[in-house]
Amino acid sequence: MIKLIFHTSVLSIILIISSCSENKTVTKQLKTPTSIEELGELLFNDSLLSRGNQVSCASCHKAQYAFADNTPVSFGVDSSKGGRNSPSAMNLAGHNFYFWDGRSETLEDQTVGPIENPVEMDIPLSEVVRRLNTHPQYRQFFVSLFGHQADKQSIAIAISTYENSLSTSNTAFDNYMNGKDTTQYTAAAKRGRNIFNVKGKCFDCHFGPDFTADQFKNIGIFNGKDINDSGRFVVTRNLNDIGRFKVPGLRNIAVTAPYMHDGRFKTLKEVIDYYDAPDKFISNSINRDTLLKKPLALTTQEKQDLEAFLVSLTDKQFIK
Ligand code: HEC
Ligand code: HEC
Repeated sequence: MIKLIFHTSVLSIILIISSCSENKTVTKQLKTPTSIEELGELLFNDSLLSRGNQVSCASCHKAQYAFADNTPVSFGVDSSKGGRNSPSAMNLAGHNFYFWDGRSETLEDQTVGPIENPVEMDIPLSEVVRRLNTHPQYRQFFVSLFGHQADKQSIAIAISTYENSLSTSNTAFDNYMNGKDTTQYTAAAKRGRNIFNVKGKCFDCHFGPDFTADQFKNIGIFNGKDINDSGRFVVTRNLNDIGRFKVPGLRNIAVTAPYMHDGRFKTLKEVIDYYDAPDKFISNSINRDTLLKKPLALTTQEKQDLEAFLVSLTDKQFIK
């Protein structure tokens, strides 16, 4: 009996030593989380969730850009290049689809994707579970907040609880709408909202509290040749879905450049110029939505107003 105890304690010492040397970058002392949400925040920022401790969720979802990335596509472990633009991880609570092609239907399900994705964090979830449960601090955090060791589900719950907390509504537009502050919402933004709703037809697709109704639409960024991410089709195999992507929400849009699933547009001005006359950019698109059939013929002033409205949807904490 005594012998057995001796053996297990030696074994656990060996385990601690080996896990410490393996996770060189995680020996830093972590602040003890007081809630599942705070535990999720730690995990979101920790490169322990990737092969070779190279990247964390926050490497591609950067707080200062409303949790989006500022490059057309992001780089995962070993600098591997992803195929799509990193969207904002904010204001996602309660939506029906996640990712550009909607392949996840809940945030909890979504969190597992990047961890195992070869061009993102590239690590089996079972290995993350093992690392957390041999980590001197995380092991305790999970036990005290969940009542048991880390497992696939508790990791997903922690991260998604944190993601759910990332919502913003301190924008000039919202404050005007709810009567809190009517001084920041400019005349240009007001005119721009009208263009958004009527002449620009933006509202036909971007509606609902976050300016997305979780539908999939093709705005013409697919030609089956050099522009060949077929989007929603990959998930449904329905030919009508070729080139369709999730209509993205527009909150904080002023700081989440570059834009579109492939990050092809650097500025909101370029996005608006595209919608104004898509054929000038991509003349051979396949399956483009009929709403974008004719050029909008927006004047320079109307384009500027529309941009002012989009900027008014951005949380003040991000506007410098
Ligand atoms: C290497 C860069 C990278 C890393 C690391 C990464 N992501 Fe992402 N994330 C992306 C890209 C690119 C997409 C879009 C992929 C797609 O739609 O196919 C995305 C999509 C998302 C979405 C969906 C947003 C929406 O509008 O549907 C969420 C939420 C998200 N990531 C959270 C996370 C979390 C949580 C982690 C860590 C566990 C993480 N990401 C790690 C690049 C990354
Ligand atoms: C037919 C539906 C539809 C209409 C109309 C539409 N959009 Fe979009 N919007 C989308 C879809 C779908 C995407 C993503 C497309 C992609 O990545 O291929 C998108 C992307 C965007 C983006 C980039 C978001 C990001 O995070 O990268 C902005 C900004 C935007 N739209 C603004 C507008 C404005 C302004 C108008 C009106 C002039 C408009 N949209 C009209 C469906 C639409």
